[in-house]
Amino acid sequence: MALFDNMLKADESVFKNETALDFDFIPKIMPYREEQQRYAATCIHPLFQGRNGKNLFIHGPPGIGKTAAIKWVFRDLEEESDEVVPIYINCWQKNTTYKIILEICDVIGYKFTQNKKTDDLFKIIKEMLNKNAAVFCFDEVDKLDDFDFIYMLLEDIYKCSIFMITNFKDFIMDIDDRIKSRLTPETIEFKQYNPKETEGIIRERIKYAFNPGVWDEDALKIVATKTAELKDIRSGLHLLRQAGQAAEAEASRKIEKKHAEEAIRKLDEFSVKKSTDLEDDTRLILDTVKENSGKKIGELFKIYKEKDGKNTYKTFQRKIEKLEKNRFIEVTKTAGGAEGNTSIISYSNVEKKLTDF
Ligand SMILES: Nc1ncnc2c1ncn2[C@@H]1O[C@H](COP(=O)(O)OP(=O)(O)OP(=O)(O)O)[C@@H](O)[C@H]1O
Ligand SMILES: [Mg+2]
Repeated sequence: MALFDNMLKADESVFKNETALDFDFIPKIMPYREEQQRYAATCIHPLFQGRNGKNLFIHGPPGIGKTAAIKWVFRDLEEESDEVVPIYINCWQKNTTYKIILEICDVIGYKFTQNKKTDDLFKIIKEMLNKNAAVFCFDEVDKLDDFDFIYMLLEDIYKCSIFMITNFKDFIMDIDDRIKSRLTPETIEFKQYNPKETEGIIRERIKYAFNPGVWDEDALKIVATKTAELKDIRSGLHLLRQAGQAAEAEASRKIEKKHAEEAIRKLDEFSVKKSTDLEDDTRLILDTVKENSGKKIGELFKIYKEKDGKNTYKTFQRKIEKLEKNRFIEVTKTAGGAEGNTSIISYSNVEKKLTDF
């Protein structure tokens, strides 16, 4: 019957490879980031000539390809050569010297870590890495609790490059002088994509993730426009997946305007729900920020305590970071001034982050 011609059959899907929409998927090409990648490669290049590499500080707002660009370079490096070992570590998960050293052991294939202290493990790493050269990437580096290992690497690994990635431009000013003077990094700022570039990335990703011809042009434009408005490619990937699923739920072979619109509606609902779903204490912190937007973190902590907040300053800080990560609030780091370094916390009306608490 003609009525069913446009319907998906049981074994059909609009998706060709849905995992290409995962946030950690590294595409074959990364348009608009070639220049930054080339620059990163020039920092690594001296290592191939038996010299020490250059260090690199990368900063820029969330969801614009910082992690993906460097992982792409590392993957390329791994495929091309055995001379330089790439070691990528996310400091959100590995936030102490001991955890980082363990992770390095894991990446370089040293398994006998049990019952060994940090110093012993470091000696082993040193021996293994000094046979060749290494490039480290410490992503989300502002989440580190201590920086001792950076000092250790700078002192004892003779041929290496250290890359650091963060959302905070001023981060480098805050680190210990002892490390800073040895690090003297090059800097690259990743800028947000303009609407045309955003659309280009969305179009490119559609080719990886969906069967040819399933996306209606208007639907695609709607997703691209919303992504450009949110300035975060992750939200675009989320919308692509949601729109695809909305089409499949209706057994539609095409992803149409209405499916893209449904995905956007869900994204908005999702944000609203997320803020009401916060656990009580996080909610109290968010409300405190909302009522006192633009204050310093120390002042906010005082007010929060007056409101009977139960957390220690350290936990409070961590929750502030999480709220920021999820875009409920904005944090601006200031350096210097009479009171030294501090963070200014502001309430953000745009709740749009997609990661779970
Ligand atoms: N130029 C690009 N081409 C293709 N995909 C891209 C590009 N830029 C970003 N992406 C995709 O957008 C998503 C977010 O990028 P990424 O994880 O690198 O963000 P980030 O800048 O590291 O953000 P954060 O600061 O939050 O960690 C990833 O899935 C990535 O593959
Ligand atoms: Mg990242």
